[in-house]
Amino acid sequence: MVYLLSVAVFGGLAIVLSGVLIVAERFLVNYGICKLDINAGEKPLEVQGGQTLLAALYANEIFIPSACGGKGSCGHCKITVPNGGGPVLPTELSYLSRQEVRANVRLACQVKIREDIFVRIPDEMLNVKLFGAEVEYAAMLTHDIRELRMRLKEPAQISQRPGQYAQIEASSPDGPVYRAYSISSPSYESDVIELMVRLVPGGVGSTYLHNLKVGDSVSFTGPYGEFYLNEDPSVEIICVGGGCGMAPMKNIIYTLYSRWPDRSCWLFFGCRTTDDVFYLKQFQQLAQKHPNFHVVYALSDESNGDGQWEGERGFIHLAVDKKLKTGVERQAFLCGPPPMIEAVTRVLEEKGVQAGDIFYDKF
Ligand SMILES: Cc1cc2nc3c(=O)[nH]c(=O)nc-3n(C[C@H](O)[C@H](O)[C@H](O)COP(=O)(O)OP(=O)(O)OC[C@H]3O[C@@H](n4cnc5c(N)ncnc54)[C@H](O)[C@@H]3O)c2cc1C
Ligand code: FES
Repeated sequence: MVYLLSVAVFGGLAIVLSGVLIVAERFLVNYGICKLDINAGEKPLEVQGGQTLLAALYANEIFIPSACGGKGSCGHCKITVPNGGGPVLPTELSYLSRQEVRANVRLACQVKIREDIFVRIPDEMLNVKLFGAEVEYAAMLTHDIRELRMRLKEPAQISQRPGQYAQIEASSPDGPVYRAYSISSPSYESDVIELMVRLVPGGVGSTYLHNLKVGDSVSFTGPYGEFYLNEDPSVEIICVGGGCGMAPMKNIIYTLYSRWPDRSCWLFFGCRTTDDVFYLKQFQQLAQKHPNFHVVYALSDESNGDGQWEGERGFIHLAVDKKLKTGVERQAFLCGPPPMIEAVTRVLEEKGVQAGDIFYDKF
């Protein structure tokens, strides 16, 4: 009894003390103006101390990927902080490998600026811009996936690679939130971006995008993402996805065939029922023009389709296993829920695809 009482007293004291420290830091500690040095003098800034590194960079139009909007739950905002970042926080450790910790990689949303700070940011990230756009077209692809096309206003052009994504600013009662969406329009369309958005019940970003109307204004930053399509035309490209995982695949496939009309590429698309099937006719037409393009859709609900379904049946990794031969040099891009990614990765590795040639976005 005495033991339980002392645990409760000490626990309570610890909570009160940490609360006092947070309030004191918020209202009493003034870190003043701090120097923020980017890439050893390339872009010296002066910023108000006390804010996060992510917020200070954003205020100076340096946009670091931050799919969770700075909550510390996506691990996307990694940058190198050689000096002035303070100790690595427990909240960062689940996203950083030991090697990254040794190399001073940090999560920008968790680093608070308390003194002069030195950071290294790759040139590609320094080129990410804030865009203003207008919704030009919107339509439902399935019962819960909406396609949106936005015409760029300012700047009027974007340079994006297949596999990259944009961070949309969505308004919510608690202020703006930022969410990542893959760009589905091909790279050669530089004056628009298209997205495919699945409605997450109660989700702030997806509800906002599902409610936008033609003519509405949208802000986003981008492009983000480090996927590079293999430039060697003899390397076969494998795309495997499900649901709105179609978005990056569509960009990859149309960009690919605008550059290499004879290139070999497989699209594997997993659906539960025929209600989840979209873009099939469009890809079949593309395959007629490009005989080395192979389109495989599979229904995982074995009883669905009423005998009318001519595609594959079962989970999509089974179709990958059935259709692909071994001994071909390949690069693969997978996009969908984690169990699908894991099952397909195992099959591809059995087919001889190197782990370094398999890229994925889990969502
Ligand atoms: C690199 C990248 C690319 C992405 N591309 C796309 C894309 O092309 N199309 C697309 O639709 N989404 C994409 N996403 C996911 C997208 O960023 C959002 O996470 C998603 O739309 C949910 O955001 P929300 O604001 O609507 O939900 P939130 O308000 O963030 O979440 C609301 C509730 O739903 C839960 N939840 C969040 N996400 C999911 C989910 N996927 N399934 C089930 N429950 C969930 C949360 O835990 C929470 O309880 C991508 C994510 C990343 C990291
Ligand atoms: S922005 Fe998501 S972890 Fe930092």
